[in-house]
Amino acid sequence: MPWVVRDSVRDINRAVARRWQAIDPLLPDPSALPAGCGEPLVTNGGGSRVSGLGVCVHQQIPPESLNQTWGPADRFTLVPRLAGQDVAVATDELLTAWRDHLAGVGASRGPDAGASVVWPSRDVTGVRALLGHGLQPLTVIAARSRPEGPQPSPRQAFGVTIRSAGPEDEEAVLGLELQLVKFDAQFGGPVWRTATPALVRADIRDCLRRRANWTWLAERHGRAVGLLVLQPPSESGWIAGLTGCAPAAYLQTMFVDSRERGTGIGSAMVRNLHARLDADGIAVTLLHHSQVNPLSGPFWNRMGYRPLWTSWEARPASALR
Ligand SMILES: CC(C)(COP(=O)(O)OP(=O)(O)OC[C@H]1O[C@@H](n2cnc3c(N)ncnc32)[C@H](O)[C@@H]1OP(=O)(O)O)[C@@H](O)C(=O)NCCC(=O)NCCS
Repeated sequence: MPWVVRDSVRDINRAVARRWQAIDPLLPDPSALPAGCGEPLVTNGGGSRVSGLGVCVHQQIPPESLNQTWGPADRFTLVPRLAGQDVAVATDELLTAWRDHLAGVGASRGPDAGASVVWPSRDVTGVRALLGHGLQPLTVIAARSRPEGPQPSPRQAFGVTIRSAGPEDEEAVLGLELQLVKFDAQFGGPVWRTATPALVRADIRDCLRRRANWTWLAERHGRAVGLLVLQPPSESGWIAGLTGCAPAAYLQTMFVDSRERGTGIGSAMVRNLHARLDADGIAVTLLHHSQVNPLSGPFWNRMGYRPLWTSWEARPASALR
């Protein structure tokens, strides 16, 4: 890393920390910049000093990994650190430098490559630059903070039983989970792969054996109609760093059979879960939902969640301009 950039990292990170706290108290302090697939990209934001940095991280997700179902096989992620109150110019400069960098990376031109930037949802001054470079707001990481004071007891859905799932429920859980992957794939996030059903099954089998009592099924007349899966704080470390609040849990799956929606099953399952998380002192619960899924945004908002980060993506990565 050139010395002028190295010396700037600490100052920029401090400024970014102040900026993020002012924008959104749930944001963390910025992490150290990861190693990238090239030298850090630098921006002056229209001035004469380095005011922003970005690192391009390249991940190749193998077909035998379930992770390949959650997005493209070749992932190019820009990690930006931009100082200043208004980052419109700096964002534009950084994205231009990133586009030029990717133009020299062969793997970014493949049909299964994606370029993404995970951006604080409330950092609105960079949004026009993100749109202008061909990025789309595909996925939201939403957060719910533990509310102050006692909460009303959760209402139950009429004629529906909610219970913990165990290893014997593998088929029922798999059926609902695969419906969710297909449903969400319509919105451009997950990608249905040949290996998806087998990999999802293996993951469910492992979770039902290992992680007792964090998967729930809703049943009507013995038929599974709803699924809720949570990763407790002990398994949410991979995402917990996206918020400054701890402990954090991750709500992995929420799905209700299409014939049963709108009858209170989803809210009954989520409110039961929240009662347990609140009693356990979980400070914040995170989840992903598609920005353009017309069912998820309104539902999660009613359940007390709001956007924390937005993943802006160009798929294929060559659509970045
Ligand atoms: C999102 C989903 C889980 C909601 O489950 P549901 O059982 O239909 O929701 P409920 O009937 O419990 O509704 C809960 C509340 O949200 C409201 N709500 C639910 N969906 C809504 C929507 N699309 N628009 C506006 N309000 C909605 C209900 O009116 C209800 O409000 P209330 O608490 O004041 O009564 C369900 O639609 C679903 O499985 N969708 C497909 C998969 C999906 O999108 N999962 C989320 C991916 S992250």
